[in-house]
Amino acid sequence: MQPRATARLLLIGDRLVNIERRSTDNPGRPPAPPTLLVWDWGVRVFHWALLAAVLLASGTGFLAPANWLNAHLIGGTAIVALLGFRLVWGWNGSTYARFASFALRAPRIVMHLREIASGRGAGEPGHNPVGAVMVYVLLALLGLISLTGLVVLGGVVKQGPLAGLTSYAVGRQWRGAHEALAIGLLVLIVGHLAGVVFESLRTGENLALAMLTGRKHVRAVPGVVPHRAHPGRAALLCAAIGLVALLGSVRLAALPGLGVPVLAPEPLYARECGSCHLAYPPSLASAASWTTVMAGLTDHFGENAELDAASAAQLRSWLVAHASETADTRVANLMRVADPASPQRITTTPGWRRVHGDVPESLFRAPKVGAKGACAACHEDAATARFDPQAIAVPKETNP
Ligand code: HEC
Ligand code: HEC
Repeated sequence: MQPRATARLLLIGDRLVNIERRSTDNPGRPPAPPTLLVWDWGVRVFHWALLAAVLLASGTGFLAPANWLNAHLIGGTAIVALLGFRLVWGWNGSTYARFASFALRAPRIVMHLREIASGRGAGEPGHNPVGAVMVYVLLALLGLISLTGLVVLGGVVKQGPLAGLTSYAVGRQWRGAHEALAIGLLVLIVGHLAGVVFESLRTGENLALAMLTGRKHVRAVPGVVPHRAHPGRAALLCAAIGLVALLGSVRLAALPGLGVPVLAPEPLYARECGSCHLAYPPSLASAASWTTVMAGLTDHFGENAELDAASAAQLRSWLVAHASETADTRVANLMRVADPASPQRITTTPGWRRVHGDVPESLFRAPKVGAKGACAACHEDAATARFDPQAIAVPKETNP
């Protein structure tokens, strides 16, 4: 314990001034203890921008309708960019931004836990050893969520850099992992907040505020070697990594989507089967369904859609050759299994019903839609057979 100074004298010009007396003139306000700049701007911008990106990505991922996918992707891309920046800054930032200043060391973690248990130990300038574990786990989890997200985007939605390389089945498998990891992230964020509150109460330092101002009421630890930040070097590295990632992604995204059908126009089909409803792309139904449809054209849902034998044979083989079994889009995978009770229908397949479970029945009867089979009324890209989530635009129910 240091003895409390009763007077502190300062030589100003040729006068000795008691500065302690001055501060006691204002007894409510003791002189503020010195602060140390712990979190440089790189760490602070990273932290709060990451929070915003995670809020956007998790909010849209868990709560938003399918056609908000782009907002989800913006959040995800921002997370990846921020992770890239943080990696660079971990070697080029100032002292406490550097990974070396909060390396994982089991003995220090144990010591820190003992200190907490015994009520000893003051606040530390940088991340405390337990906080450091949380930082690395959060960073690793965000990296894994981004990676699994890219696989899901490529395999299920057939978009992004992995669309040309990932099958629907793989995308589906990774979707489970993506969602489980995202839930894990939310749990850990709650843990992180609890840790911040606990440590703030324990050390008397408002750590959330410190992440805003960058300053803490601590002394530099003698053992820690101070480092200057190298923003120029970091910017150069970020630009180089960003450029390589961007060029690589653009290059990969230019590959044709794996199993995305690209069909030459079939004028006969458009003419004969596109006059009463959408000329359904062949990948929306199985070969067996198309065969059944083409065998029953004289009584086609109460209409006579009969064709001459040659045209019927030509269209049947064209439909069968491009049926859902030959494609690997989400729509093809969903519609591949027909409903045995009405094998000619797309809109009664279990897959179709599943994805439209939340769409109110009344919407399909709305004047601008008319029927479940009027895919193009709500899916702007129905004719291309992609059925991208971003192309879902349901007409307003009330509009005539
Ligand atoms: C004369 C008008 C007409 C023509 C031509 C026609 N269809 Fe149809 N089609 C209908 C009607 C009516 C329905 C039932 C719509 C409903 O119940 O909502 C239907 C339904 C369908 C469905 C089921 C859609 C669903 O709701 O799941 C398929 C598949 C289909 N038609 C394929 C074809 C094919 C292939 C051709 C060309 C060989 C064709 N249609 C030509 C009138 C026609
Ligand atoms: C009344 C509007 C409407 C009509 C008509 C409609 N859909 Fe949809 N569809 C939607 C909505 C809305 C969603 C998103 C549902 C959700 O995510 O909860 C959707 C989702 C889908 C999806 C999943 C997209 C994805 O990856 O998220 C597919 C595939 C699909 N529809 C296919 C079809 C097909 C094929 C038809 C025609 C036979 C059709 N839809 C007709 C409104 C419609």
